[in-house]
Amino acid sequence: MKKIALLFTLFIGQYCFAGNEPDSVYLFIYGTTKNGGRDGLHAAWSRDKQQWFLIGDEFSYVRSDYGRWGSEKRMMNPCIIKGPDNVWHCVWGLNERELVFAHAASADLVYWGRQSYPPVNKGTNCLRPVLRYDEKAGHYVITYTDAAGKYYQVTTKDFKTYSAASEVAAGEYVDQHISVNLPNGHATGQIYRVAWPVADKLVKTYELKQYRNSKDYETTAQDAQRFAGLKPVDAKIVLTPENAKPISNVLTGVFFEDINYAADGGLYAELIQNRDFEYALSDREGHDKSWNSTYAWSLKGDNTTFAIDSVAPVHINNLHYAVLETKAPGAALVNTGFDGIPVKKGELYDFSLFAKQSEGKSTKLQVRLVSDKAGLLAQANLSIAGANWKTIKTVLTVTADAEDARLELQPLSPTRVALDMISLFPQKTFKNRKNGLRADLAQAVADIHPRFIRFPGGCVAHGDGLGNIYRWKNTIGPLEARKPLRNLWGYHQSVGLGYFEYFRYCEDIGAEPLPVLAAGVPCQNSATGGGGQQGGIPMNEMDAYVQDMLDLIEWANGDIKTKWGKVRAEAGHPKPFNLKYIGIGNEDLITDVFEERFTMIFNAIKAKHPEITVIGTVGPTYEGTDYEEGWEIASKLQVPVVDEHYYQPPGWFINNQDYYDRYDRSKSKVYLGEYAAHLPGRPNNLETALAEALYLTTLERNGDVVHMASYAPLLAKEGHTQWNPNLIYFNNTIVKTTVGYQVQKLYGMNAGTEYLPNSINVSNNQDAVKKRIACSVVRDSLSKDVIIKIVNLLPVPVNTEIDVKNMVAAGAQAIKTVLQGSSTADKMAMPVESTITIPEKFTNELPAYSFTVIRVKAK
Ligand code: AHR
Repeated sequence: MKKIALLFTLFIGQYCFAGNEPDSVYLFIYGTTKNGGRDGLHAAWSRDKQQWFLIGDEFSYVRSDYGRWGSEKRMMNPCIIKGPDNVWHCVWGLNERELVFAHAASADLVYWGRQSYPPVNKGTNCLRPVLRYDEKAGHYVITYTDAAGKYYQVTTKDFKTYSAASEVAAGEYVDQHISVNLPNGHATGQIYRVAWPVADKLVKTYELKQYRNSKDYETTAQDAQRFAGLKPVDAKIVLTPENAKPISNVLTGVFFEDINYAADGGLYAELIQNRDFEYALSDREGHDKSWNSTYAWSLKGDNTTFAIDSVAPVHINNLHYAVLETKAPGAALVNTGFDGIPVKKGELYDFSLFAKQSEGKSTKLQVRLVSDKAGLLAQANLSIAGANWKTIKTVLTVTADAEDARLELQPLSPTRVALDMISLFPQKTFKNRKNGLRADLAQAVADIHPRFIRFPGGCVAHGDGLGNIYRWKNTIGPLEARKPLRNLWGYHQSVGLGYFEYFRYCEDIGAEPLPVLAAGVPCQNSATGGGGQQGGIPMNEMDAYVQDMLDLIEWANGDIKTKWGKVRAEAGHPKPFNLKYIGIGNEDLITDVFEERFTMIFNAIKAKHPEITVIGTVGPTYEGTDYEEGWEIASKLQVPVVDEHYYQPPGWFINNQDYYDRYDRSKSKVYLGEYAAHLPGRPNNLETALAEALYLTTLERNGDVVHMASYAPLLAKEGHTQWNPNLIYFNNTIVKTTVGYQVQKLYGMNAGTEYLPNSINVSNNQDAVKKRIACSVVRDSLSKDVIIKIVNLLPVPVNTEIDVKNMVAAGAQAIKTVLQGSSTADKMAMPVESTITIPEKFTNELPAYSFTVIRVKAK
């Protein structure tokens, strides 16, 4: 803290106060058109309205959260006044298209509450809104203009309900924007005389942010300088097992989102891409003309046509199908899979399709797997007969290994056939499940020993606009009846990997299922339906939406005599899945729209299913409006657990190890649902992995507050990655785990049920040194093993001394695992295991930049 105080003094000194702060100053609050108007609200101050001091280089105190990242989130012509309630109210324009403006309020100009986007009902659009308070009428007046040059007004007492708009004369529009000559050019905004502490708080907020940024962006690249001359360090670890605290038994898990081709083309073992001909231009918002029903399909040969039809589909949810019209046999319909079809010699593949023959005659269809390199790999002839859709199946045995196989379907006589749901599945899936998962990938995830799996997202769960919300009921039942969905990461979800498959996978690996459902609002960055803000499911549809959630619980846990329990049983799982957790919402923008819907869902689940733990949401980062407002709702409703997310530089994780130490133990518990250390370039390397390992020691220490945690995202297919870093990369045949994966696995394999507090006495007193050594000691109640995890993020070895007397038998055996690399940029570092004997007091050298796990065996 001392450092911060020094920084402030220096900064204010720059304004030549020489200790004499003014009682009051002029404050200029303004927005700019820079960066498309996305930079938010800035402030400058002056003693005389002549010489202005910018606060920061146009530091932003609040930014608009309306619409899409990148293109929207504009704050145009902000207009701010102080209301009779002593609160600052700000309105601003959002775009040139819609009849909507924005409002936010703040008591101190620093912390801004939730934003609202009131719609107006007159004009062609809503431009340059200005705000005033009409004392006589006792309400606020917002006057705006439109592209047609007309003027309109709405009034409000509380910024929650508004009058209808009425057209007013041009004279009613009093532009309160004043142009000021700032050191970096002209800007328009409002000037107010304020007490110095008001301006001072703005200055200090900026300075604190600067200071924190300097800590957050500490990387090992500066270590040579930061730790110049540092000698190996001694660290004495003192345990106080008498103060043992329980740790959640589901602390570490995984978060599976269908991002980066994690599902189709990834974990879901289907080998045919676009098997249902449902890819659509809209999946990629029209940017890719080839992304349509024919994607991944082509016709090879002559005298045949290939068309897409939708007149008489297999199922209404699966409208499109292929029609092959063959005049003379020879041509084939070809599918190239997801970057080729990988097959293995001697293995069996289930081939199936839906087909009908339009003239009702019968015809033969030859199915072939062919590779340019390995030639013909498998072949079978199928009979298609009748004018109604029928499923046809065969098993193909492959004669050689290939990574580049393609599927060819060739009519063997002149015909007109319709084909759909053309599927090729390896029989060797994870646990040999039908419609199952790719075995090696599923195993790699299972090897982490996740105690839970959160699915299906992330953003995928709440979707891009109301129509894109992931609806669990559309993802169960026969594959041809499931409803495919645009994936907001720019591709397509067949939902072949649907709720049933997710639950079954959780059961197969002993992980608790944690489905996440939208809180009645889509992603805060939604743009569909007019490019606007998240909106919400209309209130008159919310009962049905809430019922869907209650139905999910019945589907997962209900007796087979219940409506939805029966559906589960018919799908092959009469035994309940024993669902315990439901996530509602995903880092949503916390607005009134959100709160109303979340509250409704939460109360309904609590009333009908008190046995289910609902996990709420508190925004996309570790602080700020959504975080504060989300926590406020959680406290008000007593939501048992809230989902926090933060992707931060390694320096943040190093410098915020006390983040949960500071949490109020009486409030909601935390699920840290998404986190990862991000370096420039977004690698997953030893540095990021060690920062995560170090932070995980703090989660174990706070196992009474942090109930669950999962790194994000989990999977990424090479060549189809929208987000980095991820935990596991893969292509069609190889699974490439990362250093971060090794950390997650070490924690998963060495979880404890009890935390044994420790303190570390470091021989070097520098804060930066002490912060880079972290230790967590836990005991597993089942095996009684004591597990010591120690991270050394220093460039020098650390010699530790640990006294484990009375905790483990003298001479106990231990498995020591050390994760270190060639440098902090190492992306290939792998843990190395050895067996050691543990005396009562033992010393251990931690290599520079390493993570060590010592599992002392009870037996
Ligand atoms: O993990 C990737 C994305 O990050 C998730 O979909 C979203 O919740 C977060 O913004």
